[in-house]
Amino acid sequence: MPRQLFVTTALPYANGNFHIGHIMEYIQADIWVRFQRMRGNAVDFVGADDTHGAPIMIAAEKAGKTPQQFVADIAAGRKQYLDGFHISFDNWHSTDAPENHELARQIYRDLRDRADGSLIESKTIEQFFDPEKNMFLPDRYIKGECPKCHALDQYGDNCEVCGSVYAPTDLINPFSALSGAKPELKNSEHFFFKLSDPRCVAFLEQWTQDGKLQPEVANKIKEWFSIRTNPDGSKSEGLGDWDISRDAPYFGIEIPDAPGKYFYVWLDAPVGYLASLKNLLDKRGLDYAAYMKNSKLEQYHFIGKDIVTFHTLFWPAMLHFSGRKTPDNVFVHGFLTVNNGEKMSKSRGTGLDPLKYLSLGMNPEWLRYYLAAKLSARNEDIDFNADDFMARVNSDLIGKFVNIASRAAGFLTKRFDGQLTHAFGAQGTALLAEVRGAADTLAQLYDAREFGKATREIMLLADKVNAYVDQNKPWDLAKDTANNEALHQVCSVLINTFAALTRYLAPVLPSLAQAVQGFVGTSMQDWNTSADVDAIAPYQHLIARVTPEQLDALFEPKEAPALIEPAQAAPKKIAKAAAPATPVDPNAPGGEALAPTIGIDDFAKIDLRIAKILNCEAVEGSTKLLRLTLDVGEKDADGQPTTRNVFSGIASSYQPEQLIGKLTVMVANLAPRKMKFGMSEGMVLAASHADEKTQPGIYVLEPFAGAQAGMRVH
Ligand code: 2FM
Ligand code: ZN
Repeated sequence: MPRQLFVTTALPYANGNFHIGHIMEYIQADIWVRFQRMRGNAVDFVGADDTHGAPIMIAAEKAGKTPQQFVADIAAGRKQYLDGFHISFDNWHSTDAPENHELARQIYRDLRDRADGSLIESKTIEQFFDPEKNMFLPDRYIKGECPKCHALDQYGDNCEVCGSVYAPTDLINPFSALSGAKPELKNSEHFFFKLSDPRCVAFLEQWTQDGKLQPEVANKIKEWFSIRTNPDGSKSEGLGDWDISRDAPYFGIEIPDAPGKYFYVWLDAPVGYLASLKNLLDKRGLDYAAYMKNSKLEQYHFIGKDIVTFHTLFWPAMLHFSGRKTPDNVFVHGFLTVNNGEKMSKSRGTGLDPLKYLSLGMNPEWLRYYLAAKLSARNEDIDFNADDFMARVNSDLIGKFVNIASRAAGFLTKRFDGQLTHAFGAQGTALLAEVRGAADTLAQLYDAREFGKATREIMLLADKVNAYVDQNKPWDLAKDTANNEALHQVCSVLINTFAALTRYLAPVLPSLAQAVQGFVGTSMQDWNTSADVDAIAPYQHLIARVTPEQLDALFEPKEAPALIEPAQAAPKKIAKAAAPATPVDPNAPGGEALAPTIGIDDFAKIDLRIAKILNCEAVEGSTKLLRLTLDVGEKDADGQPTTRNVFSGIASSYQPEQLIGKLTVMVANLAPRKMKFGMSEGMVLAASHADEKTQPGIYVLEPFAGAQAGMRVH
């Protein structure tokens, strides 16, 4: 029976771009989700921006934007990361969306209006108020002198110098970090979720200790139920009630029947999981209530170790006591440190910037593989180490695995017209059976999120395949046609083992798996198939090795060097400046071998547009370049048409006036590149032969009649 899974990652605060920690979590969850899909299970995998709360409200004000505009601008930047690292969310939504307002308010009403006694209580509390900003101050916006060690400029909840924990009211000479004003103590009515209620305690003791949670997580939680000593020496008695309200002004969801009171951001944040799911189901025309009623539905949240309390106490209690389904599990991971946890200073770079990784042309699947190799089901930190990264990618992924295909494909194509035999010989049959026989063990490891163990097992299988190659030496067999049958067998075994190993790695390497599917002609999407490969297409290079220069550039504090053109000499050929030099191959079309196969998703990343050449002129100081002014149908914020400035290395083939008024095709989403003569904001498409010496000339593309500036080229 296929399983029905609802899977989420933690919702990121909408006040900054993704960092490598977010990407690690998304990759971890995405590998699991892709594996489940390959098993034939139905998965709905959703995320959203966590938009509410005081810090976002304050950041928006600083940026001169409304909070709504502020979070919308952050949301607009998400896609490039998610697509870039192949994260297959089915939906990305926002906790400020109407679905979330409605769901959060309804959950609250259900908790408040319980027939067996309300779980919401209001109490008047004393809080610091900023008289200049006219708002109550969250603890982190109150500063002052530490009451213990007298260090100045300490936050309202704990001292960073002596480590003591205190209430904001204990600070000496407190001041508002927002305005500098002296805060006043004021009374305010707050709403509390009665977590200390015996019903909640009994439920949570059961829910957290029934064996579903990771043991190290469950053990930690156990402490919260018992009487304990706090760091400051005071005693806490089990679960305390949870303050779920904040006073206006607050960017959040207004509490029903309590004007001017808003839900604390952590109340509505996890509700955002459900809101994103509901939004997805609405788009598909499916009924949310019916979906949630399915008793077979399994719900899982991937989260970091810093937000366990919210997900294992507050969230399940909110759901259970509002009459809703509780999560089947919460999968907690540790943090990612970079290069042995070395603290990265501003001047030396700030860790591993995911966007810089992509902009350097580094393959996202290297990172996916590396993280998979390090991840386990435990809540433990992992370290990104540059040398280790290079070794695992180049020696394991490429050296052990990808090379299996390249070792066999050439012989099959040249000697057997790409056809494979189904007779594998005794040794080959046994090897193939062993590789295929690992499917169940590997499935268990993936399902248990033991990705490191899974990749290790896969590499051990690859070692066995490589030992088979070394024993059978296809390169020797190929020397004498009398060995044709043996050569055919060995190479066919290799391609079949390669297909099986690729399938095992497909959750980690979706794009490579897609390319292999085109190469071997059998599905890489279905875990349970072990169909023999009948024939292969000519082998295309599948994945490049990572170079030390790329890693140096990644951790280099300045801009990615690949984006900056050397200023000394005009680049040899601008149209290709970003690509490595291609060796001339006289037998290949246009003098160069075809690039590795890509999937449609990769192609879709390139936004090609029809551009009208409004102006074209020579560039002083360059014999190669022409400066083009292009209209791609864009407008600025005031609705005024805007143009793009693009340098193109086509001066050897065209006089500027030949091009003015013509239409062409440009790459419209290429990152702007700084060149000696100014910024180049895209690239026009032009054709040339790889052998510039014997076949010079570069030819700009022109569309058929009817195309208009701005149209996308598909
Ligand atoms: O810690 C955080 O980054 C929170 N924005 C996570 C929220 S997870 C869920 F509850 F929305
Ligand atoms: Zn102190």
